Amino acid sequence: MEYQLIDGKATATAIKQEIAGEVKAIVAAGGKQPHLAAILVGHDGGSETYVKNKVIACEQCGFKSTLIRFEADVTEAELLACVEKLNKDVDVDGFIVQLPLPKHIDEQKIIMAIDYRKDVDGFHPINVGRMSIGLPCFISATPLGILTLLQHYKIETSGRKCVILGRSNIVGKPMAQLMMQKQYGDATVTVCHSHSKDLKKECREADIIIAAIGRPDFVTADMVKPGAVVVDVGTTRVADETRKSGFRLNGDVKFDEVAPLCSFITPVPGGVGPMTICSLMKNTLAAGKREFYK
Ligand code: GUN
Repeated sequence: MEYQLIDGKATATAIKQEIAGEVKAIVAAGGKQPHLAAILVGHDGGSETYVKNKVIACEQCGFKSTLIRFEADVTEAELLACVEKLNKDVDVDGFIVQLPLPKHIDEQKIIMAIDYRKDVDGFHPINVGRMSIGLPCFISATPLGILTLLQHYKIETSGRKCVILGRSNIVGKPMAQLMMQKQYGDATVTVCHSHSKDLKKECREADIIIAAIGRPDFVTADMVKPGAVVVDVGTTRVADETRKSGFRLNGDVKFDEVAPLCSFITPVPGGVGPMTICSLMKNTLAAGKREFYK
């Protein structure tokens, strides 16, 4: 079967251009340039790359960005003080604390300290709760990026069976909420995880599979119904001597054998990844415009 590749990179570029146009108009009309701040703790390779790409995306969108760095031995109190400062900074429209944080810091405590009106990651319980009952709010970037991709490629989700692999707070859980809600996915949703029985069978019955378990090549051809839509959220770093960096990003889907079965499939890299950052930019623009909260 001829499958269609879902090009997240091109979609993200187009959306960022739209955002840049809108920012230009806002600034020309005397409005405020949106401003995103990011807190980065330590020197984790993945986090460094993500934050660097977020700063680049801000430039592409015409946003102001501020990067605040701490060493891995920062105390929880110091981090909380920084969050408090950003909460009060009237020039900062939205900010993120890049996760994961070092083990001695209570991640949830930091998230709870963020003013929900500036929580452009959509991780604060107020945003999570509002999202789950369909109220205006910041929606976390990866699920929002996936929804945007499905809409962009006019992929029908209403009434279809959607299997989500993974139940993380950042991807699996919010994705399930959004896919089930009438105004978003309107699908019949099943969430599978490490303790699910008959996971392969569940997948085989799915019209749409969203894989977010962080296990390289987990989804194989025997788990996919012909004509299914497969969205791959995995980005595990796998050693690869042929690369200058010494690694490559590996998705949760065994692409070569699964793709020929699909109607649509996202590649890794170039699928969901660029859309995640693009969604953060959408949320930052919304924060700048006080779209959800005054
Ligand atoms: N770590 C992995 N994904 C994310 C994200 O979307 N936001 C933040 N802050 N940290 C992350």
